[in-house]
Amino acid sequence: MEVERETTRNSLVFAVNGQRFELSTVDPSTTLLEFLRLHTRFKSVKLGCGEGGCGSCVVLLSKYDPMLDLVEDFAVSSCLTLLCSVNGCSITTTEGLGNSKDGFHPIHQRFAGFHASQCGFCTPGMCMSLFSALVNAEKASRPDPAPGLSKLTVSEAEKATLGNLCRCTGYRPIADACKSFACDVDVEDLGINSFWRKGDTKEVKISRLSLYGRNDDICTFPKFLKKEFNSTVLLNYRSNSWHAPVSVKELQKLLEIHDAKDGSRIKLVVGNTGTSYYKELEHYDQYIDLRYIPHLSITRRDQTGIEIGAAVTISKAIEALKDECKGEFYSEGEMVIKKIAGHLEKLASGFVRNTASVGGNLVLAQKHSFPSDISTVLLAVDSTVNVITGSRNEMMSLEEFLERPPLDCRSVLLSAKIPYKALKKTLSSGSNTKLLFETYRAAPRPLGNALPYINAAFLVEVSPCKTSGGIVLHTCQLAFGAYGTKHAIRARKIEVFLTGKVLTIGVLYEAIKLLGTTVVPEDGTSRSAYRSSLAIGYLFEFFSPLTEARPEMFSNWLYGFNSSLLFKYSTMKQNKDQLGRVKVPTLLLSAKQVMELSNEYHPVGQPIIKSGAAIQASGEAVYVDDIPSPTNCLHGAFIYSTKPLARVIGIRINSKSLRNEVAAVISVKDIPEGGQNIGSKTIFGTEPLFAAEVTQCPGERIAFVVADTQKHADMAANFSVVDYDMENLESPILSVEEAVERSSFFEVPPFLFPKQVGDISKGMAEADQRILSSEMNLGSQYYFYMETQTALAVPDEDNCMVVYSSIQCPEYGHAVIARCLGVPEHNVRMITRRVGGGFGGKAIKAMPVATACALTAHKLRRPVRIYVNRKTDMVMAGGRHPMKITYSVGFKSNGKITALELKILINAGIFPDISPIMPRNILGVLKKYDWGALSFDIKVCKTNQISRSAMRGPGEVQGSFIAEAVIEQVASTLSMEVDSVRKINLHTYDSLSLFYESDIGLPADYTLPSIWDKLGTTSSYNLRIRMIGEFNKSNKWRKRGISRVPIVHEVMVRPTPGKVSILSDGSIVVEVGGIDLGQGLWTKVKQMAAFALSLIQCDGARDLLEKVRVVQSDSLSLVQGGFTAGSTTSEASCEAVRLCCNILVERLTPLKDRLQEQMGSVEWKMLISQAYVQAVNLQASTLYVPNFTSMEYLNYGAAVSEDFHIYKQGG
Ligand SMILES: Cc1cc2nc3c(=O)[nH]c(=O)nc-3n(C[C@H](O)[C@H](O)[C@H](O)COP(=O)(O)OP(=O)(O)OC[C@H]3O[C@@H](n4cnc5c(N)ncnc54)[C@H](O)[C@@H]3O)c2cc1C
Ligand code: FES
Ligand code: FES
Repeated sequence: MEVERETTRNSLVFAVNGQRFELSTVDPSTTLLEFLRLHTRFKSVKLGCGEGGCGSCVVLLSKYDPMLDLVEDFAVSSCLTLLCSVNGCSITTTEGLGNSKDGFHPIHQRFAGFHASQCGFCTPGMCMSLFSALVNAEKASRPDPAPGLSKLTVSEAEKATLGNLCRCTGYRPIADACKSFACDVDVEDLGINSFWRKGDTKEVKISRLSLYGRNDDICTFPKFLKKEFNSTVLLNYRSNSWHAPVSVKELQKLLEIHDAKDGSRIKLVVGNTGTSYYKELEHYDQYIDLRYIPHLSITRRDQTGIEIGAAVTISKAIEALKDECKGEFYSEGEMVIKKIAGHLEKLASGFVRNTASVGGNLVLAQKHSFPSDISTVLLAVDSTVNVITGSRNEMMSLEEFLERPPLDCRSVLLSAKIPYKALKKTLSSGSNTKLLFETYRAAPRPLGNALPYINAAFLVEVSPCKTSGGIVLHTCQLAFGAYGTKHAIRARKIEVFLTGKVLTIGVLYEAIKLLGTTVVPEDGTSRSAYRSSLAIGYLFEFFSPLTEARPEMFSNWLYGFNSSLLFKYSTMKQNKDQLGRVKVPTLLLSAKQVMELSNEYHPVGQPIIKSGAAIQASGEAVYVDDIPSPTNCLHGAFIYSTKPLARVIGIRINSKSLRNEVAAVISVKDIPEGGQNIGSKTIFGTEPLFAAEVTQCPGERIAFVVADTQKHADMAANFSVVDYDMENLESPILSVEEAVERSSFFEVPPFLFPKQVGDISKGMAEADQRILSSEMNLGSQYYFYMETQTALAVPDEDNCMVVYSSIQCPEYGHAVIARCLGVPEHNVRMITRRVGGGFGGKAIKAMPVATACALTAHKLRRPVRIYVNRKTDMVMAGGRHPMKITYSVGFKSNGKITALELKILINAGIFPDISPIMPRNILGVLKKYDWGALSFDIKVCKTNQISRSAMRGPGEVQGSFIAEAVIEQVASTLSMEVDSVRKINLHTYDSLSLFYESDIGLPADYTLPSIWDKLGTTSSYNLRIRMIGEFNKSNKWRKRGISRVPIVHEVMVRPTPGKVSILSDGSIVVEVGGIDLGQGLWTKVKQMAAFALSLIQCDGARDLLEKVRVVQSDSLSLVQGGFTAGSTTSEASCEAVRLCCNILVERLTPLKDRLQEQMGSVEWKMLISQAYVQAVNLQASTLYVPNFTSMEYLNYGAAVSEDFHIYKQGG
């Protein structure tokens, strides 16, 4: 059925949080996210990946169906959704749920109250995913829940944020916040939160949660929009147009007209999620939205099966497939589509599936060799497709479609049909055949966004063999895909081989041999051996029970392949049963946290809500890229080297369309006189802002292109062409081995070089056994902070520059900018309020980003900002240091290690960054065991690669890994339980003093052995070991493991400044050197200020917490801010604040005593107002410098992990 167009409007109408928007000129390539962030005040939608992979941009999209008078609400990723496709829709962002002024929504309150937001960059997206789940649960016909709860179930709540990535918080508090709304929640299952008090009953606990009123919830679709619904849109913007045809005929006409126009580039679009993988460098003239054509947008049923329109979203297709088998009893064909629906649910995430179409997926597979799941599962069930090319309409098998040359833009996929009612091929009367069907998929994560390494779907028709007593295969359809192949394939040779055969192990073995030559990943496919072996595993898993099946069980196969019935008769039953019992749940386990709280230093130590958590959830928190652009602001993007060592001859922007948009290309030539080419500094040296004549590594900054928008700047950088010349240049150093050959090293200052312990030859001589020259290689790792690097530089009067930066060390960034611009440091001000995740990556690596903006702003006298795109960020980030380790270890027969000799080659990249601290950090942790004698040769290699930087426990992670790998190898050589080898090699107090140079304290301070034992008891470690041993003995295919690992961490406290000011109304403002990266530094500082000022002991002084505000770091207001790193900046900042407060208390005490004498008691507010009258100085600042004994000390801990259970104990 084709419908007539009701009206066509030349403007786009939609609503955001109830506000109407009408736009008549829109660049069709604009995404919803771009529009919201650039043209509205709703900046809660964050750009994390721009690829549908992180969920930080999730919003609720609501559509109205006037026929049914129903509103459909679903979560979408706004980074992929094109703005033009939201015509007639309503969008709700987290700002639309509530705010600090009008009141937060319970979702905001619970995210804050369950401590589910740290840096907060992911939180708005999380809130919207949960909101979408709640809105839809309320529509379900389920009984009304208890007051304060919703109709959401725990299982739905756990899945509500699937696909939303959080890099800080950990998912348990997030899941707890979601589950707290569920009607079937067991509140005892929820973790620590700020709502409940100790001893509260279940009922009280529920009542203390921020109230969720189901009926007074948000209106997701405003009334006014319902009236404007019935129109499609035709928009023109410069030379581009957006069309929304309402019939196939109209579509054909459009294609015909525009095809005739020379060079007109057409893009068919449905959900636009394909741009996640295939970036659009190309510029399209015509966008044709296929979603308004009913033929493409509905599912149809006939006597053979179900036909899914190409524009039907994957979510809708799943619903339709499930609808086919709603009854209690379903046919074999229905069993097939139920399994297909189940497979489709594993693909992407809900907010992608809600807009991604089935047709789009198949076309991506056909045109771009996309590793599609849909094409594989549909291929196995003989699906067909309907395609039009011009006026030709063709029906063909999916297999033929996939094998054709890539579709051109005139061809449109109309639908795909699953002939599930006609799958049985053996139709002779009296035949006793059954259909068996299964689908398979292996991906880095079972649920959530992860493309498959391989997928497969098998459909067979079998019957009992009367003569042999086995199972005979009548038909066999085996599809494999995504394994590094152009498209999904049918394993025809194996199908032919198996058809008609009685299944035996011998037959299966031959089939597996054939599979080895069929599923062959293309050259260059990652993990190709793994993928091939998975294919074999799937075939074996599917067929092997059949080789053991007997005819008498056959009649029990109700719905085709029912593995438990098969296994009932199988010799593998025992294994399978055990597997079933211990199956690790795919979602979350419950957990318990035990904390000891004390009121002694109230409110220090109380688990209060993180400062700013609620405004992070409501989207009001302002990150650098949320600061509105000043007038005339330009946006920048880096042009970086793609060569390891090359002379840069020239840089061009190869795009005519960006001629007017690009304002300048800034490079080393633009460093002003008196300025330096400096992009970052550490105590070990500096790194240039731009490559000078010769670029020294891929990823090195060559230039900074600035344009009118971030999108144009990114496009310009993409279109840039750098001309290189490599003549007469040495070959680059690309590996640590080459660095050794050419003696290319960074120097490690002697004070940072760790000391060797004992006599290695003696230690080796004492050993009963030795492992010599064992080798391991550790790779790199990217930070994946949700907010990429970002800065905004605004020129100020008198040659000054204000720079807003998401940085962990503003003091250093400030100094670098001043040196680069050649101005005194007092001309620069660096402001940092909030960082959307740092993990070390925003320490050194944030400096050149801010400096490039400042330099350009300085030169052009215009504000300049950047939000680095994820790809560039990944290329330039550096990340964790890769390294090669060679070790020899000597040990006694009882597992006691007598000597460890290490050679470590650290790949530091081209500039020193923080790399010279690596030997110290690696060894600091590695010395957690008593190695007897320890010698090492550590080289910090300089290579022509991007410089590596601080990354979450730099060196410490690797040090611990190396130590544990050595211990494990010793245990395995001796066939000993690894835990006992760990234990025997734990330090005594004496050996500890030999290994560590820092103050190790008194013997009683060495708590590791007692932590170790206590943890063994509280985790029932020995009992678990026995149980696991028994499990592993009786399980052939699956093994479990447990391990208890100690840690010794050398804590280092650095000097940190603080400033506390009391304002005339008694409110308090605090500045500290430390930056809140999400770790809660501001919260601790607030608590400390409230505690320390409460020592004045006047009325109301115990309730000062709410009066304290910590404000952004401003490098001119508070100097010597230092680094926020190493897990001690919160404590150091707190101490600085405590010292300031002590000064203030001392100044206020005489006045307080006087007032108390006069009036009997004095209120905090009165005290302060009198202090103002009497000119008491109410601002104090200090630089906290730790004394020698507290500057460096050892910290101990241990953890047990078994499968996914973790028992932790720290000391
Ligand atoms: C984060 C993420 C994870 C994903 N994970 C998986 C996964 O695990 N497994 C999997 O199989 N897929 C996965 N996908 C792919 C997803 O299924 C596809 O991106 C989606 O189905 C494409 O549909 P769309 O409507 O968005 O297509 P669009 O992006 O709108 O279009 C894609 C391409 O197809 C063309 N096109 C669209 N419809 C038609 C038509 N009817 N006729 C002709 N050409 C057409 C477009 O011009 C474009 O070239 C994932 C996608 C994302 C973003
Ligand atoms: S999913 Fe949109 S930014 Fe990551
Ligand atoms: S709080 Fe989730 S990414 Fe930082």
